[in-house]
Parts: sequence; C-alpha cells; structure tokens
Amino acid sequence: MNERDSEAVAAQLVAKGYTLAASETVADVILLNTCSVRDAAEQKAIGKMQTLAAETRRNRPEVVLGFMGCMAQSRGQELIDRLPDVDLVIGTQKFHRTADYLDDIFAGKRDKVVDVAEEQGSEATIREHVLNGNTASKPVTAFVSIMQGCNQRCTFCIVPYTRGAERSRGIADVVAECRELVGRGVREITLLGQIVTSYGRREIPARDGKSGFVQLLEAVHEIDGLERIRFTSPHPKGYGDDLVEAYGRLPKLVESAHLPVQSGSDAMLKAMHRGYTREKYLGIIAKLRRVRPQMGVTTDIIVGFPGETEADFEDTLSLAREAEFDNAYIFKYSPRRDTPAADMPGQLPQAVKEERNARLLALVNEIAGHRYDALVGRSMEVLVEGPSKRNAARLMGRTRCNRIMVFEGDANQRGTLLHLQIERAGSFTLYGRMANGES
Ligand code: 5AD
Repeated sequence: MNERDSEAVAAQLVAKGYTLAASETVADVILLNTCSVRDAAEQKAIGKMQTLAAETRRNRPEVVLGFMGCMAQSRGQELIDRLPDVDLVIGTQKFHRTADYLDDIFAGKRDKVVDVAEEQGSEATIREHVLNGNTASKPVTAFVSIMQGCNQRCTFCIVPYTRGAERSRGIADVVAECRELVGRGVREITLLGQIVTSYGRREIPARDGKSGFVQLLEAVHEIDGLERIRFTSPHPKGYGDDLVEAYGRLPKLVESAHLPVQSGSDAMLKAMHRGYTREKYLGIIAKLRRVRPQMGVTTDIIVGFPGETEADFEDTLSLAREAEFDNAYIFKYSPRRDTPAADMPGQLPQAVKEERNARLLALVNEIAGHRYDALVGRSMEVLVEGPSKRNAARLMGRTRCNRIMVFEGDANQRGTLLHLQIERAGSFTLYGRMANGES
C-alpha cells in the first residue's frame, strides 16, 4: 500500500513538471514514505532521515526533506522538533497535497509544512500511476487503491489511528482507473485496501446478497483484456458465502488469498479482537480450497502478543501445519502507542519473542518447502512480468496462486500468459521451462 501511495505522489509530481531523480544523491526533493505498524519500521525511517539530513545539509542545503504516511500522521510536528532539518510532514489523507506544498516551499511562501488533518474524499486521490515514467517497458501488473482506513480496531494495531476510518471509492471510479490501466497494457490488477472485504460497507448497499466488494469484483471482471484480479488484504471474517461463491464463477479471480490469521490460539484471537476463532478460520480455508483446490494461502502471524503462553504458541504452530500455508509473514509483537495491547499485562521479554519467531519460521519454511516440491513435474500458467531480479538473462512470471516462476524465455514474452512445466523448486521460487510444442 505504501508503494502504491508513493507511486501516486510521484505521478502527481511528474504531472506538475517534476522528474523522477535517478537516485537520492541527485534529488532536489527526498520524501520518505513511512510505516508505523512496528517500532522497527519507525526507527529505520528516522535513522534514514538522519543520514540524509547529515549528507544533504553539508553539501546541498537547498534539498527539501520530508516524511509522508503513517509515521508522519501519528507523530506530526514532533518529527520536526526532533529532526529540525525536515521541511515537510504529510499525513495519510494529504498525499495529494504534496506537489502544492513543495511549490510553496520552493517559492519561499512557507518554510515548513506539517499537514496531518483529515480530508473528506481523500480515499479517491490515490489514482495516478507512473506508467510512462523513465522505464522503457510498460508495467504488466498494477495496484489500485479502492479504499482507505480501517474500523476493525485489533488491539495490537496502530492503523485505525494512522489511516483513519474506512472510506471507499465508488465502483465506477475504480473501474475507470482499471480500464485505463488495461488500455495501457496492464494484464493483472491487485485491488488494495487495509481490509478490502469491508469495501463499500457503508456506501454500497448489498445487492442479491452480494456485498459491495463482490459487486466491485464483478465490475472489474468485466474489463476486456484484463487477465487476472488479485486483492489484498482481506479479513477472514469478510469471506462470506458471496465471496466464496464468486471464486466459482469469476475465472479472472486468481487462486490466491493472503489471509492474516495473527494467532492459532482462541484466547489470543479474542484478546486481539480479531472476531473469529481458529476453527472458523480453518473452515474458511477449507471452503476456499473446495471451490479452488489450487488456492495458495499466505498469512501474517504475530508471536509474543501480551499473555501468550507456550500452549497458545503451540496452537499457532499446529494451525500453521493444518492450514498448510504457502508462506507466512511472522512479526514479533511490538507495542504501539495508543493501542489497547500496549497496556495489557503479560508483556513478554524480547528473548521469548525471538525464540518463538525462529521456531515458527522454521516450521513455515518446512511446510512451504513441501508444498513447492510437490509441484515439480506439473504445468502451470504464469503471467510473464519481465527479467528475473537475480539473473536478468532469465524471465520471471507469477502463477495464479502467486508463486514466482523463473525460466528461460524471450524478452518479448513479457505480458503474455504461458504454460510452463515445473522442473525444480527452490526456496519460494519455482523453475520452469516451456512445455513441448510451445516456443
Ligand atoms: N506488532 C507486531 N506486528 C504487528 N502487525 C500489526 N501490528 C503489529 C504490532 N503491533 C502485523 C500484523 C499485520 C501486519 C501487517 O503487521 O500481522 O497483519
């Protein structure tokens, strides 16, 4: 989501006559888009800004430095008090004002700008894409932001305080953006929101038992030339029958779900305010795999939540085994300001968090390894995205279930769908080759 927000700001600046700098050492404006989900992310952004300030202030004092996004939103003026070299602090509902504020600063009208106010309608301002930018090749995949904010209030999470209340864009507006992208060569779109399954909950009435989100999926599905639809991230409780059933009839909806579970212990899920039990969660995965047996499921898990016992943690280990995740992003619980969990009793020592993190990571890697190995010998469809990151002589594509496949191919296959034979599985990567008869 942050990448998408940054891209929209970059596109808005380009539209105003700015150009994307090749690197920060030659840029006149350096904006850091920030994340507040864990303290480590905030510390990293602050450290980076300190380095930038030291470097630029010595040789190029005119460079404008700014923070955007969640940390800007939650800390506001405090950031300039602590780092006086910072010129600009732009909150999560003000990304689209960046160009105007920069103009003011360059024109000498304002010295410093801090804007972290709420703004009605800001959910519809993350719209522009850097399509022609400086890259010779047009993108094959794109992210489209469909909503902002979150009303869920999980007890560990700072997002409702940094991103504000849920606000959704209209269906026609989202579809128009998707259509434009497809017109420029995009074949796969990922719909983005904090909790996409809550899309339109207040704005769009259910129709024939279908939620606003399912109505949006249907509308995007209609776009000719679009091959694949992904979305992230949903909330497990958003998998009503209407969404499960949509998988049965919308072929562009790929077999992939990022379903954050957070814990396998019912006691922890309750303390986290997640709104589902372990059994309910596993039931959702089972339903999805019944409709689409190839469904790849990834998740987010927090270890060391306040009060988590060894038995609670073992419930998480056993859930990971039962769910057979393709991958899991594991996070050590990090107390966040203003969140209920930060003040809960039973805060755990860092060493316990580290130890649980390592045990879970080993298990997740083992399960994923088996799942990837089991695919060797099979044929799968990939959408070719471009050169492989590690070896530019090879191409990289993604399967519908969101696994990366690397293969020998021709650069002009970019943007096409190919059926590849899987020859080998590495760590979270498949290696394929063109099946006989295809060239
Ligand atoms: N500590 C650790 N991990 C967190 N996440 C959210 N808040 C916290 C926190 N306070 C994780 C959750 C979420 C992911 C984006 O970040 O797993 O799904």
